[in-house]
Amino acid sequence: MQIFIDSAKLEEIKEAYDSGILDGVTTNPSLIKKAAEGLKENGQNLDMADYIKKILATAKTARVSLEVTEYVYDKMVEQGRKLFKMFNPVAKNVYIKIPANPSFEGEKGKEFDGLRAIKTLSAEGIPINCTLIFTPEQALLATKAGAKIVSPFSGRIDDYIRTLNNIPFDKSDYFPAEGKDGLNDNGIVSGVDLARHIVEIFKKHNIKAEVLAASMRNARQVREAALAGADIATIPFGVIKELMSHYKTREGMRNFTDDAIPEYINLTQK
Ligand code: E4P
Repeated sequence: MQIFIDSAKLEEIKEAYDSGILDGVTTNPSLIKKAAEGLKENGQNLDMADYIKKILATAKTARVSLEVTEYVYDKMVEQGRKLFKMFNPVAKNVYIKIPANPSFEGEKGKEFDGLRAIKTLSAEGIPINCTLIFTPEQALLATKAGAKIVSPFSGRIDDYIRTLNNIPFDKSDYFPAEGKDGLNDNGIVSGVDLARHIVEIFKKHNIKAEVLAASMRNARQVREAALAGADIATIPFGVIKELMSHYKTREGMRNFTDDAIPEYINLTQK
């Protein structure tokens, strides 16, 4: 499974990339906002174009998703084209993120705007990551329109199922892939289950698009996304660190360090 970092913070992207594990980066308007706020708090100026170019140059071989902020067909297409033209030349690693359905709550008439934008931009050779996927059906239609990546938001489905059922939770709390107490969202019992359904449908129908398990909340969920067959997981920096963490590893390090005798250490000290 490929590992993407879910962040727009340059220092996080750099650290993850330099560790040799990074296959990609996903950003979204909220992550960009967070990164920008961090810079401003540190008294740094924000030149947005320059900042994104730095991300792309830092990520080098890793694919980077940049999301549109427009939400009607022609504006999304225009913005998608501009973002791609402006930033893809830096490292040839840009994907444009288009929402599955850009309609707001209670809004009708724009159900196909996302699909149409995916179709138009894909036909122009712009690779699309279809975002905000909450059902296997959305994923299926997104690939028919031409999306190369589909992003089921696993963590947000877990949040949604718990919220609908008045179950209190913290954002990082584990929710089992197999679900809990029969709770579900139209037959989907968890965020990982959503990714698993999409993986199975793509396999059965020989669909080549990649399934990117997004909105990861904890290490165990990442493991379950890998077991479910997700091609990619996009993971916040803190959760990537959690993937590398275990009490017995720390304890073992402490013991080995304490036991190291000078004769052995000195072998490589000269
Ligand atoms: C995916 O591309 C999104 O950026 C992301 O995974 C959203 O995660 P969140 O639910 O933690 O905001």
